Amino acid sequence: MIALSFRDVELALGGRTVLAGVNLAIGQGEFIGLLGANGSGKTTLLRAALGLVAPRRGAIEVLGKAASRGNRAIGYMPQIRAVPANLRLSGRDFVAGVVNGARWGLPLLGAEGRREVERVLERVGATALAHRALAELSGGERQRLLLAQVLVGSPQLLLLDEPLMSLDPSHQAGVVELVASLQRSLGLTVLFSAHELNPLLGVMDRVLYVGNGQAALGTVDAVITEPVLSRLYGTRIEVVRLGGRIFVMAGAQDMARDTHGCGEHAHEQAHEPSHDHSHGEHAADA
Ligand SMILES: Nc1ncnc2c1ncn2[C@@H]1O[C@H](COP(=O)(O)OP(=O)(O)OP(=O)(O)O)[C@@H](O)[C@H]1O
Ligand SMILES: [Mg+2]
Repeated sequence: MIALSFRDVELALGGRTVLAGVNLAIGQGEFIGLLGANGSGKTTLLRAALGLVAPRRGAIEVLGKAASRGNRAIGYMPQIRAVPANLRLSGRDFVAGVVNGARWGLPLLGAEGRREVERVLERVGATALAHRALAELSGGERQRLLLAQVLVGSPQLLLLDEPLMSLDPSHQAGVVELVASLQRSLGLTVLFSAHELNPLLGVMDRVLYVGNGQAALGTVDAVITEPVLSRLYGTRIEVVRLGGRIFVMAGAQDMARDTHGCGEHAHEQAHEPSHDHSHGEHAADA
């Protein structure tokens, strides 16, 4: 069974083509890393699978049906996550807020709803954290609660948009391992977008790399190559493998690293080298 398919898809936003000629088929149970520079179309591709961006041409199917809004078979973690209005909200109430499809507010849950909340909290190992206010949790702990929320209703396909954003390397590894263990134990299909390739190397089955208006899906060995990436970056790319890690280089610049491949962030960094601790750690890690 194919979990997600794109056939000759073109996606446009504000009249501008973001991706064109996208053909891909992701099998059920696969863990796919979605990589690409800032603005390459990762979020747009995920939103298209959710039925939130209608393709200008081509067809998108999720579990054999045309992509459409409100598909309960999909668990979606958006990139820009709305900060819960009340950070005093406990993790448990945060998760409970999406049971019965109510995105916000605190529904009075029946026994079944309460069981569902405890089930997903246990799945992500957050039972002991769940009484605490979201504001008190570390980034990595809060990420567990976000994942619990995504699991409500037992979706089959998880679309996770940059779950590693602003986590330090050890918390990144924890989130990647947690998602991989959920994928394996529940047979989920996972599309996991990220700026860095290396944290996903050990867990992903294939990589979906976007750039230059195009997408390439395949094994790491097939996609993370100089010809494919040079086409996707529109510039000559060198792939350097070192100690089990892979570096995607354009000249002396590492393209697949969090703070690079993006003028805006590079600029920020040049002016405020130590303003974001986590970026410094990313740099050291990559
Ligand atoms: N509402 C919009 N109207 C027009 N263009 C848009 C709109 N939203 C996004 N874009 C553009 O579409 C392109 C793809 O954006 P998208 O957010 O999908 O990229 P991304 O790969 O997720 O980037 P990032 O790594 O920064 O999250 C970008 O050039 C972006 O500026
Ligand atoms: Mg994005």
